[in-house]
Amino acid sequence: MNAMRKNGPLAELLSGLHRESDEEILGKARSLFRGGDEEFSRIVKEYGTLAPEEKGKFLRTHGISIQDPSFSLCVSPEMGEFLFNLVLSSRPGRILELGSSNGVSTLYFAEALRLLGRGTIVATENDEKKCRRILQNAAAGGLSGFIELRKGDVFETVNGLSGPFDLVFIDIWADGYLEIFRKIEPLLASGSIIVADNMWTAFEGVAPFKEHLDKRTDIVNTTLDFASGVEFGVVLCSGGMA
Ligand SMILES: C[S@@+](CC[C@H](N)C(=O)[O-])C[C@H]1O[C@@H](n2cnc3c(N)ncnc32)[C@H](O)[C@@H]1O
Repeated sequence: MNAMRKNGPLAELLSGLHRESDEEILGKARSLFRGGDEEFSRIVKEYGTLAPEEKGKFLRTHGISIQDPSFSLCVSPEMGEFLFNLVLSSRPGRILELGSSNGVSTLYFAEALRLLGRGTIVATENDEKKCRRILQNAAAGGLSGFIELRKGDVFETVNGLSGPFDLVFIDIWADGYLEIFRKIEPLLASGSIIVADNMWTAFEGVAPFKEHLDKRTDIVNTTLDFASGVEFGVVLCSGGMA
């Protein structure tokens, strides 16, 4: 059993937040899809069976774009548990989360920090309503002490941060991945872990970031074929980094 599920009240909070996110996406997808209900149900089922690498292509084929700025668009439970386990195993003192939405991934990170008994996650989000939800969810999960929220445009926010961060999680809009990565590089150090979501679902948008990482000799990285496609990298040495 994943230890995440042992905290009953938090597991219940997260399950409600995942449900809310799924309902937003399904509602939007249905409104964009021109066919009937039966065909829509078939497509939803088919989507669930697809390999992660096929998912982005599938959505584009059916003209379904789920990048609505008001939506939660949170990580899946599977991805959340991966982030949680990653923190327990790598024991980062400082985590930087780029794109926190309502704070679902933030909660997975923070719960792992709580179990470790130390550490901070810097959460970043520019949507005022979502920032309120992060604070509410952090309080409801009893995790406020591990979360430092920075409101505003993350491209500005990161200018005011000092490193190093042991783990960075990139989950803003896909076309901003490379630009934000370049900005946060000075905040990384040898051994820092880089995780980026949506590598398959937003394949085209994240391509410049992926190409950039693949060319770097001071970073090792690979795309993990699960959830929405997850880039996993580690900084090897300090070429320009702290
Ligand atoms: C995919 S969602 C993040 C989901 C979140 N990690 C979770 O699992 O709950 C992307 C978020 O990034 C935020 N975002 C996008 N561009 C941003 C920017 N320039 N500054 C701050 N937040 C930004 C969006 O408002 C959105 O809430």
